[in-house]
Amino acid sequence: MDDTSNIYYVLNRDRGVIVPAIVGNSKQTRAQVGNSWEVVPRRLPLQIQPTNASLYLTSNCNLACKYCYIAPYKKEFRNELPTDAWKRVLDILYDYGVRFVNFIGGEPLLRKDLAELIGYADDIGYAGIELSTNATLLDRNHALIDMVKNLKANFVIDTSLDSSLENQNNAVRGAYKQVLSGIRYVVDQGVMLSVASVVTNANYESIPSFVKFLVDLGVKQMQLNTLIPIEPGQKPLYIDDRELLWKISESCRRLKDEYKGRISLECRLGLPVLSGESDAYVDNVAMRETSFSGCPATRREIYVLPDGRLIACPMFISKNMFMSAKSILDDTFENIWVKDGSINEFRRGLLQPTDARCEVCKYGEICRGGCKALAYYISGSIDKKDPRCTLYLQE
Ligand SMILES: C[S@@+](CC[C@H](N)C(=O)[O-])C[C@H]1O[C@@H](n2cnc3c(N)ncnc32)[C@H](O)[C@@H]1O
Ligand code: SF4
Ligand code: SF4
Repeated sequence: MDDTSNIYYVLNRDRGVIVPAIVGNSKQTRAQVGNSWEVVPRRLPLQIQPTNASLYLTSNCNLACKYCYIAPYKKEFRNELPTDAWKRVLDILYDYGVRFVNFIGGEPLLRKDLAELIGYADDIGYAGIELSTNATLLDRNHALIDMVKNLKANFVIDTSLDSSLENQNNAVRGAYKQVLSGIRYVVDQGVMLSVASVVTNANYESIPSFVKFLVDLGVKQMQLNTLIPIEPGQKPLYIDDRELLWKISESCRRLKDEYKGRISLECRLGLPVLSGESDAYVDNVAMRETSFSGCPATRREIYVLPDGRLIACPMFISKNMFMSAKSILDDTFENIWVKDGSINEFRRGLLQPTDARCEVCKYGEICRGGCKALAYYISGSIDKKDPRCTLYLQE
């Protein structure tokens, strides 16, 4: 590993962007950057410098969504870390430069210590704190909602809903009325809320009315995500027609313009490199190294399982693949993040050219073949390219 002792990286605390190392002392460096930028001592090579972490506090859940990648496998994680251990995890990650944390599950509101952990992360100094929840328990958690109003960090509740139509949502996720009650409560309380939806063959046609519905509810952010079919039975929900996917993405881009200023719409249905910002990255070596384009796993984002082990990407929980041998509390962080065999196996697949077509693609180096989970579940191997690649449709 290279000597990184007096090298800093600079992180935008509002947007989660990091820029390459600036050598010098932290005071000089700080003088060169604006207020929303933090100078962070760097202990790892920039390519694998983590900034974000998702903490899977539990795999327990009060719902049973048809496509879920974690809750059906909860027997794997009977030993959840206790409160103090999660606090140590937060300390370790912060020491290594992580500044954005997502409390997720399973259903994280099933953990009695959730508010305590969020408060702890805020006290340490995390810049961004996210809570990913199915929203069913939000309207009865007044103390939690009151508490998050006073955090120093940027805080957002990320909640899941797949349609504005009760039957469409409930056919896959359930609890529509309860979820809406939770969303209304949070919006009324003035807490930032984002809705995450998984786009499937069953709901894509109603996206335009869904966006309008959320705008009317006062929701300010929405994300449309790709389904990753981890079990063969989920394949009918997966949109495997690339031309259709392209059309849906185009229509989302139009909706984004139409609702500009009212809701921020993020369409994650195609490869991130096709989002329109790619060309700036392609010509800039430094940005290429640090860019979030492509898969963040094993580079920027750390996923911590309920028992403290890391997993390169959580979509491989059901396969028991790419999990570290030890918990993050049982060895040094570097030994796990940098040296663990399973984590590295995934990272090698990510850093080396994959599909021959990616090698000649001008976006190859930043896209690196896209989502490895989709490559695995749809194309049969993480060495294949993301099946959503629609570059040929643009020619
Ligand atoms: C695993 S859940 C955990 C948090 C919370 N229980 C919830 O449902 O929001 C986090 C997000 O992953 C999404 N998700 C679950 N399984 C998925 C899959 N196979 N493909 C894509 N997204 C999935 C859910 O819809 C949800 O938005
Ligand atoms: S609510 Fe979330 S964790 Fe629970 S089954 Fe649904 S997607 Fe999975
Ligand atoms: S492999 Fe896909 S699902 Fe997993 S972290 Fe990367 S982009 Fe996300």
